[in-house]
This record gives sequence, C-alpha cells and structure tokens, in this order.
Amino acid sequence: MKVLGIETSCDETGIAVYDSDNGQVWQRLYSQIEKHREYGGVVPELASRDHVVKAAPMLEEIIAEIGDIGALDAIAYTRGPGLVGALMVGANLARGLAWALNKPLLGVHHMEGHLLAPMLGDETPELPFVALLVSGGHSLLVDVRRLGEYRILGETLDDAVGEAFDKTAKLLGLPYPGGPELARLADSVASSRFEFPRPMTNRPGLEFSFSGLKTAALNIVRENEPLDEGLRAEIAHAFQQAVVDTLRIKCRRALEATGYRSLVIAGGVGANRCLREELQKTVRKLDARVYFPALEYCTDNGAMIAYAGALRFLAGQQDNEIYEVLPRWSLDTLPVI
Ligand code: KG4
Ligand code: ZN
Repeated sequence: MKVLGIETSCDETGIAVYDSDNGQVWQRLYSQIEKHREYGGVVPELASRDHVVKAAPMLEEIIAEIGDIGALDAIAYTRGPGLVGALMVGANLARGLAWALNKPLLGVHHMEGHLLAPMLGDETPELPFVALLVSGGHSLLVDVRRLGEYRILGETLDDAVGEAFDKTAKLLGLPYPGGPELARLADSVASSRFEFPRPMTNRPGLEFSFSGLKTAALNIVRENEPLDEGLRAEIAHAFQQAVVDTLRIKCRRALEATGYRSLVIAGGVGANRCLREELQKTVRKLDARVYFPALEYCTDNGAMIAYAGALRFLAGQQDNEIYEVLPRWSLDTLPVI
C-alpha cells in the first residue's frame, strides 16, 4: 500500500511516498534555509509562499517515479503543530489530491512523524519505549506505550534545545540555522576552559529549561570579547557539552522511571554527533538500547509523515471530513491506534 506524505509545517518542503508492503520510500526534500538566512530566522509568510512554489513540482517528480498517481492508496499531510500558513499549503494540496483522486486523507501530527521516523530504518525499536524529541520548536520526553498513546514525561519550560543551539550560534556570529554550525565548531576542539550549568539536573524531575544556557553564553561572550576562532570554539564546545550532558541525565532518569529498555531519539537535534555518542554510552550502562533515525529522517521530511499516515490508515483512521490545521496540537491528545 502506497501512502503519500506531505510535510510543510515550517521551512522544509518534504514530499514522499512510503510503501507499507516493502518499506520502500521515494522522497524529495527542499530546504528554504537560504531564503530565511538573511533574516536570521524563519519568516512565516516567506515560508508559506515558497511551499506553494515548490510542493506541486516536487509531487510531480515523485509521481513520475512511482509511475502513476492512481497507485497512491492514501494521502497524508502534516496537520500541525507548525506555522499556520505553511501548514495550510500542505493541507490544501493534500485535500485537493484526496478529493480529485477520491482517496482517504490523513492529518498527521508532526511530532508523531518525528518519533516514528526511526522505524523507517532497518533496526526498529520495540514498544514500549521512551522517546526524546529534540527539534527547533520542541523538547520533550515521551512515554510511548502503544502507537498513538503518548504520555509526556517532561517538557521544556522555555526554549527548545534546537532554539538554544540556534540562539547561541547567533551570539557566536554563526549563520542561521546555527545548530549544525555550532556543533561543527564545538567538535573542532577537544576541551574547553569554560563551564556551563546543567539546568534542572540537581533536582528530581524530567522537565527541561534551556534559556539559562543562552544567557550564560551571552555573559561568557561579553566577558571575553573580542573573540578569536579558538575562544569561539571553546564556548561552543562547553555549550554543547552542557546540553548533551543535561539530555543524557534526563534520558537516564526517564528509562529508570519507566523501566523501559529502548530509547528513541528524534527531531533535528538528533543529528548531533556528540549527543549520539553520549547516549550510546548511557544506554550501554543501563543495558538498554538507543535508536536514531537515519540522518535524512532526523530533520523535517515527508517520509515520516507518509509512514505515520500509513500506520494510522492501516488502523482504520480517515480524516476526509477534517478541514482545519492545528498550529498548536498536544501530542498526548491523539487517538490511540
Ligand atoms: O526537527 P527540525 O528539522 O525542525 C523542527 O521541527 O524544528 O529541527 C531543526 C533544529 C534546528 O534548531 C537546528 O539548529 C537543529 O535542529 N539541529 C542541530 C543539528 N542539526 C540540526 N542542533 C545541534 N546539532 C546538530 N547537528
Ligand atoms: Zn520537526
């Protein structure tokens, strides 16, 4: 069964087809980063307009690859959370297609897409598992008992992890989106003379707070100006170390609290090399396992939406009567499948 997935919640246009019979994926991904870079962040109106221009031609390319638009069994799109105008572009394209082809339509939760993305790989986690979702807009730990049954164990009280990476990168003069750039700079040195706090780790609980790290970075930058390349790398290194350490501590706590043996990492920050290495060490000590999506499925993409849509369609869900997108949508309110 072939399901089309359309992702337009933020600044990536992702179009993919997932075949549930053999796991095959056809996909196109277009990043708008260049369009937003000069503004230092995503400009919602530009994002919507660019999705309009890019989505349909990308869809045509994929259809040419699979041969026949009639081969699609269902159409899935990101219904939320995200930028409202951007979401509407994908939703309307999906709705038009579903109507024209007389096919079932599925509105997928963006974060459910992220947390199921590791299942597109060869080694898939068994349920139940703990998921750490770390992206530009979200940071949460989720207890995944069954598909659709998501209990939020802890969330950020302020900035998301990716946001903290991006803001600190900006302070260091790195181009937007700074997360990967900051990581590269951090990895260029083996140690740092600086030390950042590990927020909210000295008391029990699974909540996060990352805005203090950005302030700590600002203070260090001010105290050490002018910064040369070496100093910037050391600041980046200490910042990354603090974030990774904090996430590692909370993941360990979540595994201990649930008694689960599998940890799934998803979202753009899941691409971070240092985070991957440290979590591998942590789970080894706990006799548990950690699963990461392939790098191409870590950041926003259409395949994860097609996959989540396929699972929901196979479970009998259909959203052809739903018309509104949900810019805010809590993960723990989804129907269990
Ligand atoms: O999941 P995603 O593509 O989009 C959202 O739904 O937000 O995540 C993007 C975020 C950005 O903040 C980006 O800077 C961060 O993920 N990111 C990274 C790395 N790669 C992407 N942060 C740290 N290290 C990386 N290697
Ligand atoms: Zn995302």
